[in-house]
Amino acid sequence: MFVTGTGTEVGKTVVAAAIARTLAREGKRVAVFKPAITGLDDYPADGPNPVDMHPHSAHRPDHVVLREAAGSSQGDEEIAPYRYGPAMSPHLAAQLAGGRIDPERLLAAASAAADGADALVAEGVGGLLVPLAPGYLVRDLAVALGLPLVVAASPGLGTINHTLLTIEAARSAGLDLAAVVLTPWPAAPTEIERSNRETIAALGEVRVETLPELDLRRPGSWPALRPPPPPPR
Ligand SMILES: Nc1ncnc2c1ncn2[C@@H]1O[C@H](COP(=O)(O)OP(=O)(O)OP(=O)(O)O)[C@@H](O)[C@H]1O
Ligand SMILES: [Mg+2]
Repeated sequence: MFVTGTGTEVGKTVVAAAIARTLAREGKRVAVFKPAITGLDDYPADGPNPVDMHPHSAHRPDHVVLREAAGSSQGDEEIAPYRYGPAMSPHLAAQLAGGRIDPERLLAAASAAADGADALVAEGVGGLLVPLAPGYLVRDLAVALGLPLVVAASPGLGTINHTLLTIEAARSAGLDLAAVVLTPWPAAPTEIERSNRETIAALGEVRVETLPELDLRRPGSWPALRPPPPPPR
């Protein structure tokens, strides 16, 4: 799977982690991948307590959350070949660090991660049209990897437009859109949230799933996702 989202901070890591966890629970060897991670300065090793800085987050960088969810023993470098301190678009973070993200290196790293694994769960960076390098978008990487696409999106106001734009951007590049996941899906959804789910499914002609609020600090407590419906005969 390649997990993208309608933008940044919409739940990509949570959705990717839940998928990885479910597959690992089924006994599969799961590898995880994140082409580039930025904002590592927000998680200083011995600075202020990250828990205080991110009261609602998983308190750990994406590659660490993904590794734990998958039960993987991959190293940081194997999961995320490019890692930067500032929280900004990866193409800019690379430029300010005096380098450039190399698409070939990303493909080689993803393929090395998938080697020997039963499943690869990749998380994008921001949304589909975020540049990884000048002229090379997250979407280009998703196309090159050829994995089914999952779109994480918010359940609330504004999500219809963001999600349909993402679906259009995905389909226009020929990506195989597996599902949209609305996250975190409230225990008692409002009429707007229920309607958003139906509207996205109808207008986007896409499978729409929901992910309940998870305790991000305790992956062991997460419920397994239900299996996909059997293919039509
Ligand atoms: N199902 C969920 N359970 C609990 N919290 C959630 C859930 N979905 C989203 N969140 C909240 O949304 C925040 C952002 O989620 P997440 O870190 O997965 O986003 P992201 O799209 O991966 O962000 P980034 O662009 O930084 O990679 C989380 O810290 C959490 O507070
Ligand atoms: Mg993330």
